[in-house]
Amino acid sequence: MSFPLIRNRRLRSSHALRNLVRENAVTVHDLIYPLFVTHGRDIKEEISSMPGVYHYSLDRLEEEIREVTELGIQAILLFGVPEHKDAEGSSAYDHNGIVQEATRLIKKWNPELLVIADTCLCQFTDHGHCGVVHYDEQKQRAEVLNDPSLELLVKTAVSQAEAGADIIAPSNMMDGFVYAIRQGLDEAGYEHVPVMSYSVKYASSYYGPFREAAHSTPQFGDRKTYQMDPANSREAIREAESDVAEGADFLMVKPALAYMDVIRMLRDRFDLPLVAYNVSAEYAMIKAAAQNNWINEQAVVMETMVGFKRAGADMIITYFAKDIVKWLKQS
Ligand code: PBG
Ligand code: ZN
Repeated sequence: MSFPLIRNRRLRSSHALRNLVRENAVTVHDLIYPLFVTHGRDIKEEISSMPGVYHYSLDRLEEEIREVTELGIQAILLFGVPEHKDAEGSSAYDHNGIVQEATRLIKKWNPELLVIADTCLCQFTDHGHCGVVHYDEQKQRAEVLNDPSLELLVKTAVSQAEAGADIIAPSNMMDGFVYAIRQGLDEAGYEHVPVMSYSVKYASSYYGPFREAAHSTPQFGDRKTYQMDPANSREAIREAESDVAEGADFLMVKPALAYMDVIRMLRDRFDLPLVAYNVSAEYAMIKAAAQNNWINEQAVVMETMVGFKRAGADMIITYFAKDIVKWLKQS
């Protein structure tokens, strides 16, 4: 045999051959599309740092749900931007809260569409933290209390399930939140409703545009006492392990792009369905470069998505979901 001994290019020599040996693919069934709903009338307002992503008032939501449905997207992740904020985030668990109202409407328009409710308090609290804040006089600093926050999160989850949410997705990173919410749902008769835990959620700067969109920037301090340190990976295993033990039905890694190693690690260690959250600044970066004609948007997005699949994600939460489906249909 002559040099080179190994010719890997053989299997790359034609379009058909490449299709035949391809290991990973992105399909419409992998995609979860986030949606922002808000009070008021006739609102379809673009989020400035997220071109193509909008806030919808409930009277404008139906057109968006129709479009999502027609594209064949099966699941949306619902975020509420409420009118009223207070220290306890009470509109998060109000029967007539924005997420609850939107959920009821969406399930009426399209009962087949999976409504995933983000369960957190930060959009609903006046201080913008994901739990109850207590000022410790001795330490002279504010703290986010764990166990009192759980009670409010359970109330939120139950009221979302009551409104018809198909999946509860707690993103708050309090300790024990999966167990508390699982118990709360079971006691209220929602034992069939799965919990998609934001298991491994880092204290990331990649949430900037989302916080603008959701009006959920913390009014003081940061989220580093409850979200994870970006420098850690073994800690991700501990977070995922506790969620599995507490009864989570899905695990998630968030953000996705800078944490591909963590996605792979969880895929190798755990058998639960794994979600990658392609977060707001990951979207904003690509959009900004594309608008400058610096990159080919479609090619870069599809390469990124298949990268998440290759890293081991089963599904992807992404603001690009509608674009991706349109591109898949063309190809
Ligand atoms: C709220 C929440 C955040 C995101 C999803 N749920 C922001 C945060 O934790 O500060 C970020 C999503 C994104 O950036 O796309 N707990
Ligand atoms: Zn939060």
